[in-house]
Amino acid sequence: MPTAIVTGGAIRIGRAMALHLARKGFNIALLYHSSGTASEETIEEARAQGVHCQGYAGDLRNLEEAELFIGKILKDFDDVELLVNSAANFIQENVEQTQLETLVDTLNLNLMAPYLLMREYKRKVNKGLIVNILDERVAKTLPTFAAYSVSKVGLKHLTELAAVEWGKSIRVNGIAPGLILPPQGGPPDYLEKAAKKVPTGTHGNLENLTKALDYLMENTFVNGETLFVDGGEFL
Ligand SMILES: NC(=O)c1ccc[n+]([C@@H]2O[C@H](COP(=O)([O-])OP(=O)(O)OC[C@H]3O[C@@H](n4cnc5c(N)ncnc54)[C@H](OP(=O)(O)O)[C@@H]3O)[C@@H](O)[C@H]2O)c1
Repeated sequence: MPTAIVTGGAIRIGRAMALHLARKGFNIALLYHSSGTASEETIEEARAQGVHCQGYAGDLRNLEEAELFIGKILKDFDDVELLVNSAANFIQENVEQTQLETLVDTLNLNLMAPYLLMREYKRKVNKGLIVNILDERVAKTLPTFAAYSVSKVGLKHLTELAAVEWGKSIRVNGIAPGLILPPQGGPPDYLEKAAKKVPTGTHGNLENLTKALDYLMENTFVNGETLFVDGGEFL
């Protein structure tokens, strides 16, 4: 059975990706940070699909730690085929408001850690597919979540660089979600209100994203692509 590595795999979008892959028969190496009970629940749910699932706790803001994860996972799993980089923070500070801590944490977690995970995946696995979870904001100039936007634009460019450099052995693609889930702790009508600004007048759901993942897995001639799953909001 092939193995997928999913960062941020305990909750929300990362969880949906991990469980979808488990249902498809992938063993799952699930990276999480602070989701203690939630990670245990997701791991149990993945195992209920009859696959092997193991959790790896760690703080991806810590780049020395990030660099070691792929090596650790390869001691437990032998046929790794897929890396999904989903873990990220989402901090609302415009450029002027950006605190040093936000800048460092955001670039470390959202850009530098995926960079190191991808590099180690290339060095140690060298096959299959990498999918980076981006954001439709990469196509816009919206300063409201400034460090976040910089990190995701950087990750999109890295996706393209790696796709060119590694295409013969690894395809590297991005998924840029739009309005899928409300921010954690957001008001109950957040999605309905925000959907009015989306060209489709709707919000998306987790299945829209797992379908995008399926497409990138199945279509072996797609490399360096960013698939916008956002109802056209990026336009
Ligand atoms: N929600 C949306 O509609 C939307 C829209 C556009 C793009 N996205 C992108 O989709 C991805 C998932 O979004 P989401 O809304 O599901 O995310 P989320 O609910 O904000 O969860 C963040 C994830 O990142 C992990 N994480 C946070 N800090 C970490 C750290 N220091 N070290 C390791 N992991 C850490 C969390 O793990 P723990 O819970 O274990 O701490 C959690 O799994 C992100 O890349 C986000 O930018 C989401």
